[in-house]
Amino acid sequence: MAPGLIPQTFIDELVSRADIVEVIRARVPLKKVGRNYVARCPFHKEKTPSFHVNAEKQFYQCFGCNAHGTVIDFLMEYEHMAFPDAIEELARERGFTVPRGAGIPDHSEKHRTLHEWLEKATQYYQRMLREHPQAQVARAYLERRGLNAEVIARFRIGYAPPNWDNLLPALGGETAKAPLLEAGMLVKKEGSGRVYDRFRHRIMFPIENQRGQILAFGARQLGDDPPKYLNSPETPLFHKGNALYGVYQVLGQMRSTDCLLVVEGYMDVVALAQYGIPYAVATLGTATTAEHLKRLFRITSRVVFCFDGDRAGRSAAWRALEASLPELRDQHDIRFLLLPEGEDPDTLVRSEGLDAFTTRVHRATPLIEHLLGTLQAESSPGKIERQAQVLARVRPLMTNLSSEIYRALLMRELAGFTQLPLDQLSELMRSSVAVPQNTPPPPKTTQPMQRKSGRQIGEQHATHTSPMRTAIGLLLKRPDLAKLAGDPSRYAGWNIPGARVLTEVLTLLQTQPTLSLAAILEHWRGTETGPYLTQLAQWTPMVPAEGMAVEWKDALERLAQQARDQETARLAEKDLSTLTEAEKGQLRALCTRTRTG
Ligand code: CTP
Ligand code: MN
Repeated sequence: MAPGLIPQTFIDELVSRADIVEVIRARVPLKKVGRNYVARCPFHKEKTPSFHVNAEKQFYQCFGCNAHGTVIDFLMEYEHMAFPDAIEELARERGFTVPRGAGIPDHSEKHRTLHEWLEKATQYYQRMLREHPQAQVARAYLERRGLNAEVIARFRIGYAPPNWDNLLPALGGETAKAPLLEAGMLVKKEGSGRVYDRFRHRIMFPIENQRGQILAFGARQLGDDPPKYLNSPETPLFHKGNALYGVYQVLGQMRSTDCLLVVEGYMDVVALAQYGIPYAVATLGTATTAEHLKRLFRITSRVVFCFDGDRAGRSAAWRALEASLPELRDQHDIRFLLLPEGEDPDTLVRSEGLDAFTTRVHRATPLIEHLLGTLQAESSPGKIERQAQVLARVRPLMTNLSSEIYRALLMRELAGFTQLPLDQLSELMRSSVAVPQNTPPPPKTTQPMQRKSGRQIGEQHATHTSPMRTAIGLLLKRPDLAKLAGDPSRYAGWNIPGARVLTEVLTLLQTQPTLSLAAILEHWRGTETGPYLTQLAQWTPMVPAEGMAVEWKDALERLAQQARDQETARLAEKDLSTLTEAEKGQLRALCTRTRTG
């Protein structure tokens, strides 16, 4: 255990024993309704209560603003506490002492070390861009892309030379090995203990935090070694889902800015900066997340999302809009700028220049207009049908819109569009407040889940339940099922989305079968998997308690079948003559099993 860290076992124990109802009731007046509790939501202004606390699941959720989580999330949000302080507070209320030497988890020391190594790597790549014999290709490439020396220096762009083992010797040999591995710069060769450079013969874009410390790299291919962009993996410093490339260059020494332009690519940020638009940041090839939005709004109240105008761009813009609604506050201004098809900001600012591009930014479509425009464009031609479809699609979105002012203004627009009287419209929209559909975007491997009825946490069900979601969902509901699963490592090799998460949860539960749901979720706090598990935790399987073990085994069997089918397909694709004897045997066995089911 690293010094200063709160032991996980203590967190497990504390969270498993805590009672969320008790903790929330001490702060918010709760009313018992059936087996649950309701209140006016403490996180947004409302007249009728839509904040629910589920005692059985130890979970809270607001159907107005979509705030949700465990007892720890509640303390963090309500008391504006950091994670370790929430743990301290919970422990204090229950009369526990956080184990000595713990307290504030001190990641800072480790992080500082990693930052230092990445800083050295950055300087090394910058030097290689100037000095390496093969950097000529890189310099020519940057020149062809029209970047000048000033902007190359400002963004600290560098060059990773070819070959597999440059970094370690250049940065000091053996002592650098562990930190560079942890920071994702080196890759371990399977089998042997040897390591090699992750980034070879690529243009290196350092990804910095707001203070200019290096977190990771984005690396663009120069030769024909795909992918076009290779990013650092998830590391203790780097979480792709909330990183914003270029934020340091936008802010400099400041803490906020008037406006941020959110684009898709590294090159876009750099080119815009060179052409006089120094307020662009990029998400790194991921869909816009709630984390992104929270970060953006900590530094600005005006955000302009910029996307390509093709189909992919439009659908990315829609996902950004959906992610924005819960984060939109009265004082915020979110806009959408869709570029002509096939253009990106990099190409466009070069071809049409600063003024024309700035005009586009100023004329970007405001959120509500973009929302209504998109829905209308996607609806049937008949006037009444179109109005009906737009209303039907706005209803669930309305639920996630946390700003009362925007809600009222959207209502006014809808009244104008449908010619319905406002009170009738509000009635229609209100009746739907209980049926939100926009649960947090699920990981890309899963289908979205929808709520059956928003009035009760726990009446949700998956619309298209995959065996994997069923398996993990059941496991969260009944941790004791883990013992029926055998050795978790057999699932790790499956090439099925979610297999890694299943393996991780099984491993945890087989060693600690008595963890509460909230304690289980705490193990994935702050990871990409966290929101996925939180979402599955809110699902209630439509299976009677006594049928769960059967359902669970069935889900596992279906997964096993899926894995076998994939393996069969993989082997069947190969030329028979290239198969080894072992593979042939495997194929025969697989085919037999598949036929007999
Ligand atoms: N991206 C990525 N991995 C890839 C491709 C793209 O992470 N294999 C991310 C990068 O952050 C990239 C962004 O998605 O900057 C946009 O991708 P794309 O539009 O394909 O590239 P451009 O930024 O236009 O890059 P370039 O102009 O250099 O071709
Ligand atoms: Mn581009």
